[in-house]
Parts: sequence; structure tokens; C-alpha cells
Amino acid sequence: MIFDIITIFPGFFGSILEHGLLKHAIAGSEIAVNLHDLRDFTGDAHRSVDDRPFGGGPGMVFKPEPLFRAVESIESSREVTSGEAARAVLLTPQGRVFNQALAAELSREHALILICSRYEGVDERVAAHLATDEISIGDYVLSGGELPAAVLMEAVTRLLPGVLGNEESKLAESFQELPALAASGTRAGLLDFPQYTRPAEFRRWKVPEVLLSGNHSQIERWRRRQSLLKTSVKRPDLLEKAGISAEELRAAREEEEFAAREL
Ligand code: ADE
Repeated sequence: MIFDIITIFPGFFGSILEHGLLKHAIAGSEIAVNLHDLRDFTGDAHRSVDDRPFGGGPGMVFKPEPLFRAVESIESSREVTSGEAARAVLLTPQGRVFNQALAAELSREHALILICSRYEGVDERVAAHLATDEISIGDYVLSGGELPAAVLMEAVTRLLPGVLGNEESKLAESFQELPALAASGTRAGLLDFPQYTRPAEFRRWKVPEVLLSGNHSQIERWRRRQSLLKTSVKRPDLLEKAGISAEELRAAREEEEFAAREL
């Protein structure tokens, strides 16, 4: 996957590309990241990327020309190699809200252009005629699209084949939407079950006995139950989407009560 990022702060991405998952994905050629300084696509001596809004008002608005030039320059350089047009994503609080399903959808693209603007605004013609997608990372306002672009890039990259060593852990984690696996008892669409590591007792807090038992079917059952109960407390909105019936939830609660009484 090729990410082309258009930004006025290319230096912002230095650290995130040099650590952890993204660093490894670059080293393993699962992704390539090209940073494009928007100011390189301006046409004036001041290299200005924004201007005052028509109609007045506070703040500045990103001009259309540099953004169109930047995207077109990326597209024309790519035509030589692939010919397929890449999706151009404008990061904006007005976009479709990013989630795991959208990350999965984007991970099937061969390339993505990420357009980072500043919060005050972008000339509407960019959203209307240049971007193929407008994406928000949540209902809050940041001062620019760089952090959202980094979030999107990391969430998409970890879904690419060969990026995570352990494919299984990726499948089992919270929020993964895998209806086929839900039927086989995996925790698709639910929050993760609680994890523990050594020591088995820390400041008098003990690890649940079942995890030390070595009984794998019991451990699986316990994990599935915890995942369900935790979701029902912290994110009840996810239960329906994950296809959990009221009956199943009631059974899990009863089983939990029964297990607690046994102790
Ligand atoms: N730019 C500013 N805030 C944003 C958000 N929440 N998501 C995406 N881009 C943004």
C-alpha cells in the first residue's frame, strides 16, 4: 500500500514513521509513505497555502490550487507505474466517522492519498471536486488533519497481509468485524476479554483462577463470557451489532453469578 500524504507539516510524521508498526511495515515493504509539502505546490513568492474567506469572518481557508496541484502531481507520477486512480481522502471533522469497518475497506486499496488541512477550513471545491472521501476520526475538533491521517494510516496498515506477526491476535481483538467467526464462538465485534500476566498475585489482587487451570475449553468459555459482560457494561451499543441476543447475555450473567458463588 502506498500512502501519499499532503501536509504543511511533513516533519510531523518523522517520529511516527520511525517507531513500531509503521516503521516495520516500511522496512518490510508492506507500505511506502511519501510526504508532500503543500507549499511546494504554491505559485507565489510567499508560498501561501491559505487566504481570507469570501464573505468575511475569522480564520483562514486553504486555497484550492495548491491542493489540486499536489493531488494531480501524485496521480500523474503514478499513472506511469499503475494507471489506477487512488482514493483521495480529505481528513475533516465533517467527514464520515472512521471505524474498523472503514479501515478494513481502505486496506483493500492499492494506494491512498491523505489530504491534511487545517481546522478553520478548506475551500469547498476541494471536498466537492478533488477528494473522493471525507473522513473524520471522531466528533471532536483538532487543529489539523495530521494526527487524523496518522491514526488512519496506522489502523489501515495493521490490517495489511504480513504486517502483524500474529494474524490470530488481529482477528480476535476488539471491534474486528468478522461475522463468519462470530458463529464459531470468537469475540467478533465485542470488546476484548481481560488479559493478565505474571505475577499471579499482585498487591493482593489475584489473577482469575480459571486462567491458571490449563483447561483450555474452560478458559475459552470464560473469555467469551468476560468479553460479553464487559461489552454489556462499557459499550452496550455494540451488543446488537455483534448479534448478541438478550437470551445469550442473560445466560452469561447467570453463569458468572454461578461461578462467583462457587468461589
Ligand atoms: N481535522 C480536524 N479535526 C478532525 C477530526 N476530528 N477528524 C479528521 N480531521 C480533522
